[in-house]
Amino acid sequence: MAIEISRDDIETQLAVCRRLRRRFEAGGRQPLALVDTYGCQQNEADSERLRGYLAEMGCTFTTDENAADIIVINTCAIREHAEQRFLGNLGALTHTKRRHPGQIVAVCGCSVQRPEMAERIKRSFRLVDLAFGPHALWRFPELLERRLDGGSRVFDLSGAPGSIAEGVPVVRQGSVKAWLSVMYGCNNFCSYCIVPYVRGRERSRRPEEILAEARQLVADGYKDITLLGQNVNSYGRDLGTGINFARLLRMINDIPGDFVIRFMTSHPKDATEELFRAMAECEKVERHIHLPLQSGSDRILRAMNRVYDSEKYRSLVELARSLMPDIVITTDIIVGFPGETAEDFEDTMRMVERVRYDAMFTFIFSPREGTPAAKMPDDTPRSEKLERFDRLLELANRISAEKHAEYLGKTVRVLVDGESGDELFPLTSRTKGGRLVHLRGGRELIGRFIDVRITDARTWALFGEQA
Ligand code: 5AD
Ligand code: SF4
Repeated sequence: MAIEISRDDIETQLAVCRRLRRRFEAGGRQPLALVDTYGCQQNEADSERLRGYLAEMGCTFTTDENAADIIVINTCAIREHAEQRFLGNLGALTHTKRRHPGQIVAVCGCSVQRPEMAERIKRSFRLVDLAFGPHALWRFPELLERRLDGGSRVFDLSGAPGSIAEGVPVVRQGSVKAWLSVMYGCNNFCSYCIVPYVRGRERSRRPEEILAEARQLVADGYKDITLLGQNVNSYGRDLGTGINFARLLRMINDIPGDFVIRFMTSHPKDATEELFRAMAECEKVERHIHLPLQSGSDRILRAMNRVYDSEKYRSLVELARSLMPDIVITTDIIVGFPGETAEDFEDTMRMVERVRYDAMFTFIFSPREGTPAAKMPDDTPRSEKLERFDRLLELANRISAEKHAEYLGKTVRVLVDGESGDELFPLTSRTKGGRLVHLRGGRELIGRFIDVRITDARTWALFGEQA
């Protein structure tokens, strides 16, 4: 069972927020805060909670780092590239802070939870006032106050097994789409992945907490709720309530209102017929499953500790399509895993041809210190990995373009969810399967479900107008 942070503890944090608000008011100005987020949707959801606390402190928000009094960088550790990006931006803040000496710089999130990174930040980035991992996020107000009280730099990397904190305030981005975390952490230990080390073991939120939040979102007018978890299909196993993810989907589907339910991510080892049946039978659940394949080679899947083989994966796809012929299937693939041969890579290409994914996220293997794969011999030259990556991307684009072309002239139902910044097609919307459609039309359509006719199809997006 998860360690649940008591409501009293969260109340204490909120009291700190109120104290800080009075302190800022006494200083004569409302502080400006900037929250910069890297990585996955879980991090986006965490940033909404950081903004929630900051708003309780009386902050308003800016995207200008020169104007900001408080900067929070919420980091990602999944690949080296993500870390290099935030380190580059963090380095650049040295100049900003020199011009604005009272500025508070906080870094948090997965990367900070890595002891090597925390050490590096401590040593080489003197501008950082406070650093904390995902497990200490609920204590952010207290950590900030400690620093403002003139204490030394604050580094809180405790709580590695993880906890659940209910009742942290949230400021959401936008008014149509909302994230709803159903569980935290991961137990799978895929051999390449840093997530279980930085986010701790799987722990599920209690169903009544999730349902209360979902009901509130619907009452607040949100139309698009994405349930989040590193592996939603193992939801509830740690609770012993008998409510698994398929049951949870049905319970959320039963909430009255006009909204859609999406979810990610699903580990193929835990995807079941029960889940697909729930998806097929729940009218609010979108017909989309993100089912990371990672590799089409059984040998590599074993080395990755993925616990399924290509045969099992193929049969899952067939089952999903037999129950939902229009289901959108997307995936993640890693190219150049240690020991991946040309033949292993061809297995991946064959699998992609066979499944014909609607969209694919492709990555080159990035060794993460502390994971088993980082120690595996890896003798494929980088140039060869890049070649494989390019070929896979070309195939993904071809399939995506072909799939998109099939939409031309068709009428589909979409939820208009925001603005695109484009003059001709100023709106963005999503089909039931989560496909992006750029739309002509006015802002008044945002938040509405409408039928649109697809007038143009490109590799990455569809274009249309109200039918
Ligand atoms: N190197 C490259 N890609 C990775 N992913 C996770 N860890 C690594 C790594 N070390 C990819 C996987 C996962 C997605 C979120 O990121 O494909 O599904
Ligand atoms: Fe990483 Fe595997 Fe967990 Fe996904 S399921 S976060 S790939 S360990």
